[in-house]
Amino acid sequence: MGCWGARPLTGGMTDKAAETANTQRMTVVVTGASGRTGSRVAEAARGAGLTVRAASRARGFDWEDPTTWAQTLRDADAAYLMYPSDVGSPAAAEGVGALAREAVGLGVRRLVLLSARGEDQALPTEAALTSSGADWTIVRATWFSQNFSEGPLVEGMVHGELVFPAGEVKEPFVDVRDIADVVTAVLTSGDRYVGRTLELTGPRLLSWREAVAEISEAAGSTITYTPVPTRAYGQALTGFGVPAEEVELLIEVFDTLMDGRNAHVTGDVREVLGREPRDFADFAREAAAAGAWKA
Ligand SMILES: NC(=O)c1ccc[n+]([C@@H]2O[C@H](COP(=O)([O-])OP(=O)(O)OC[C@H]3O[C@@H](n4cnc5c(N)ncnc54)[C@H](OP(=O)(O)O)[C@@H]3O)[C@@H](O)[C@H]2O)c1
Repeated sequence: MGCWGARPLTGGMTDKAAETANTQRMTVVVTGASGRTGSRVAEAARGAGLTVRAASRARGFDWEDPTTWAQTLRDADAAYLMYPSDVGSPAAAEGVGALAREAVGLGVRRLVLLSARGEDQALPTEAALTSSGADWTIVRATWFSQNFSEGPLVEGMVHGELVFPAGEVKEPFVDVRDIADVVTAVLTSGDRYVGRTLELTGPRLLSWREAVAEISEAAGSTITYTPVPTRAYGQALTGFGVPAEEVELLIEVFDTLMDGRNAHVTGDVREVLGREPRDFADFAREAAAAGAWKA
């Protein structure tokens, strides 16, 4: 129950040994546990000795149904919060704020939110967390490397052409396994990262064109990149049945994120993990070997 960080350290133990003992008693709720980041957070947290309570709709947790939240949160020590679709949506601000307040009320004070680097639209969601009374950490991730290998972009990649509204802007793509390692380290580091906003990037800037070229080489197939205006991309999404409201938010978010504001790397992964972030070339090689871009 309550904040694991508030538990007394066991007398006679070194700080390190006591931290390990506390970690082994810690239960963390992982939302989006079937998704790109949540599945890795669950894996990394289990690897660090934490007890993971995986939360997704199949397990009875629904962000859209507040009556399902308490049963998932009760008696846990911490939670990883990942709001589906986009952390910058008005629904995310409302949902994260309401869930965080409920968690705090249940004694689950240690909350780590996945946010998006440079996304102004996500600031209300972050504010909803920081004003909830939680012991919070915000992890702002840049574009995931795994966007190329898991999710809606895969189909284009497999068919040899990625059509995307990113122009020639550079991005330091981050590997979701590094996000998971940082979240786990944050949860197992006592109060060290409480009240901190971390910005996670990979080690190297690449344009979408360069990223697709690296994947092409790793996969041994020809994949091209075709930049398109954001509005045209939005119209294509509408044609695929994406609701108009969602399309408008995506257009706004893409226009914000593709203006070059994220074209620099940070040292936050190194600060937390004491090692360099994984390189895009390693991601491309491993995903190609796993068959990510095979038809
Ligand atoms: N993509 C990027 O480059 C990037 C960068 C920075 C931040 N982000 C943020 O990352 C978040 C997405 O994270 P992700 O990529 O790890 O997720 P994801 O792979 O898109 O998976 C979505 C997860 O949410 C769950 N889910 C969907 N609807 C739900 C509902 N109503 N209630 C409970 N769970 C629900 C799904 O589980 P079930 O379907 O099994 O329920 C699934 O586990 C967004 O907030 C986005 O803004 C993304």
